[in-house]
Amino acid sequence: MSTILEMRDITKEFPGVKALDRVNLSVKTGEIHALVGENGAGKSTLMKVLSGVYPHGTYDGEIVFDGEVQSFRTIRDSEAVGIAIIHQELALVPLLSVAENIFLGNERAAGGIIDWRQTERRAAELLERVGLNESPKTPVGDLGLGKQQLVEIAKALSKDVRLLILDEPTSSLNEQDSEKLLSLLKEFRRQGVTSILISHKLNEISQVADTITVLRDGSTVSRLDCSGGISEDDIIRDMVGRALDDRFPPREPTFTEEVALEVVNWTVHHPIDADRIVVRDVSFHVRKGEVLGIAGLMGAGRTELAMSLFGRSYGRDISGSAKINGQPVDLSSVRRAINAGLAYATEDRKTYGLVLEDTIRRNISMAKLDAVADGMVLNRARETEVAERYRERLNIKSSSIEQETVNLSGGNQQKVVLSKWLFADPDILILDEPTRGIDVGAKFEIYTVIRDLAKQGKAIVVISSEMPELLGITDRLYVMNEGRFVGEMPTHEASQEKIMARIIKTGERVT
Ligand SMILES: Nc1ncnc2c1ncn2[C@@H]1O[C@H](COP(=O)(O)OP(=O)(O)OP(=O)(O)O)[C@@H](O)[C@H]1O
Ligand SMILES: [Mg+2]
Repeated sequence: MSTILEMRDITKEFPGVKALDRVNLSVKTGEIHALVGENGAGKSTLMKVLSGVYPHGTYDGEIVFDGEVQSFRTIRDSEAVGIAIIHQELALVPLLSVAENIFLGNERAAGGIIDWRQTERRAAELLERVGLNESPKTPVGDLGLGKQQLVEIAKALSKDVRLLILDEPTSSLNEQDSEKLLSLLKEFRRQGVTSILISHKLNEISQVADTITVLRDGSTVSRLDCSGGISEDDIIRDMVGRALDDRFPPREPTFTEEVALEVVNWTVHHPIDADRIVVRDVSFHVRKGEVLGIAGLMGAGRTELAMSLFGRSYGRDISGSAKINGQPVDLSSVRRAINAGLAYATEDRKTYGLVLEDTIRRNISMAKLDAVADGMVLNRARETEVAERYRERLNIKSSSIEQETVNLSGGNQQKVVLSKWLFADPDILILDEPTRGIDVGAKFEIYTVIRDLAKQGKAIVVISSEMPELLGITDRLYVMNEGRFVGEMPTHEASQEKIMARIIKTGERVT
């Protein structure tokens, strides 16, 4: 097999951080090459160097693509030779249609006039190729994150790609959709398209990768050939520099009989399409000291349920009641919800979770500024001390707490979101996909924090698409499907099969 890409001695510095230190990457034509490493190891940065996001001249080292030394000045330059990158944070325009997004900046025009019919026809073909069953006319904002991901891939394919770079493409997908995406990559491999795949889901990596490059702290530590099969433990050892014995902390039940939050007959309508019911007659409770899981497929309505509870941040015509510690509560605004002791850590950190242009320090203290202020005056020293504490506790990788969160690696941004809600110290904490994009070692840290909170008597609700995670850290589970709660079980009696069986059974009933 020939080599399509050779990156040699790549060094990239940001003020105060050496993100890449003489990194080497060699990719063979037509293979699926995985790039793995802990949060902040430099994976995204390396791919931004490759695709021209960081122009030639702003890094040291050499890129050889297709036998030629390349010096890309812009993304357009790398696209011109057939490199397409799909970033960790999706970059679609929500108000534009699927077709418009696919051809944005690359419009199908004849004599300066955009040919809509051709645009939509071509978009429909690309959607079919990626297996997305949606109209090209649908606004992207109406699609879930998983579907948006497929639109991004369709967009890449529209540019006759030879090397497709996917930065954590499956982090927001459920198992089925991830499976589909991985098959898509294998299909591309048959067609001779090379891909570079970044992922923290090591089971996926060991399933599809031909070769793996492991980065640690901005350096290449190993290059693994997977032709003879590879175990997740082998990858982990190189990633973190030691073997990881357990994926989950021990689960000692700490729940009491006291109900912290009780929700009865909660129903939520779609914010625009008011006839559509997104959450239907849901009743549930979570006890003090309990870690409760909500399992379900993407689109089941879990995030909508959580957001509608948290200050009506989602939906309209919301009905039902909620009690905290046995008392009826008013959760009708975010401020009231926080005051009632409820917090919601979002799955979508970019839109709702962080003020990106603000520092780590301020993002962490934001939801509870009064705790770092004397009256109306902010106490900077106390705020700093708090931020330092969480930086250490969750091992947030950054040059300092004064760094703007926009420049943090994806996984480290997620840790800041978590810190913010931990510091807010709610009685009931809803965590929506808390470990999305988080590396395997840091996941363990976050699970430990969750179990500790339960030990302190907090009630924790975890929404997750990763069933092993729900099975590994919760005490009890609800299964949600198509807006309803369709099952409940203690976790020690649960299994992936049981959960899926509930989903499939109720799915048949509804359709
Ligand atoms: N624009 C920037 N300014 C300053 N520092 C940056 C910038 N971009 C990245 N960094 C730093 O460079 C390092 C590598 O970041 P990078 O995003 O490449 O990590 P990653 O391996 O992709 O991590 P993750 O798995 O969390 O996505 C991190 O320490 C990050 O804070
Ligand atoms: Mg990254």
